[in-house]
Amino acid sequence: MSAFLDVQNLNAFYGSSHVLHDVSISMNEGEAVLLLGRNGAGKTTLMKALMGLVSVRGGPILFKGTDITGLVPHQIARLGVGLVPEDRRMFARLTVAENLELGRKPGATGRAAWEMDRILDIFPVLRELRSRKAGALSGGQQQMVAVARTLLGNPDVVLLDEPAEGLAPVIVQELAQQFMALRKEGLSMIISEQNLSFARALADKAYVLESGYVRYSGTLAELDANEAEWTRYIAF
Ligand SMILES: Nc1ncnc2c1ncn2[C@@H]1O[C@H](COP(=O)(O)OP(=O)(O)OP(=O)(O)O)[C@@H](O)[C@H]1O
Ligand SMILES: [Mg+2]
Repeated sequence: MSAFLDVQNLNAFYGSSHVLHDVSISMNEGEAVLLLGRNGAGKTTLMKALMGLVSVRGGPILFKGTDITGLVPHQIARLGVGLVPEDRRMFARLTVAENLELGRKPGATGRAAWEMDRILDIFPVLRELRSRKAGALSGGQQQMVAVARTLLGNPDVVLLDEPAEGLAPVIVQELAQQFMALRKEGLSMIISEQNLSFARALADKAYVLESGYVRYSGTLAELDANEAEWTRYIAF
């Protein structure tokens, strides 16, 4: 049986700048995978490449058995890939409810697995903030809106680009619990982080990126057992 997501020898470019080098990753449905790497390692570029937002060579990128290499972002989104971008992209002048509504789409199978109520059960604070302008929210609240909005598009896999970046430790803990709840619901997720921290408890495996190369990959148990093999690629 083929993997849920299988990327082989993917190269990505910004103009003539070659940023990802023969990156191969794979995951099964329902798994949580970490992309670890310091500033500039290529985490965002890999997520953009999966989403069709940067030009790629090599591959293929197989998602649920379909070759999505070279498809445009809305086609990839329609096939069930959802991105929560690093900058969260809120519409500051719209309310939380309006921002969330903008995310509402049927999933790849036409089903709406993620109804608003189910999402608000995981992010209860958003219930209270519904009529607040998104621009008035804290960073953590904005991150929750960004995740909830993406889930309302009913993705089969969600790409979370440094979701904990810049958030206070207490908020990061809250987010970690919410992500754990999503994981328990069977959501497949790829989470990027600069180092192994908040998502450690929920991840199945990790890929360590440096300078656009996968330098190490393994299960969390393997990472714990072989720290000397990968920690030099990570910022501490
Ligand atoms: N729009 C762009 N044009 C040209 N080069 C870019 C562009 N965006 C990123 N890069 C370069 O590509 C490389 C990978 O960057 P990327 O943003 O993917 O790293 P990252 O792992 O997400 O880092 P961070 O932790 O800072 O978000 C870096 O060398 C960066 O300078
Ligand atoms: Mg990034």
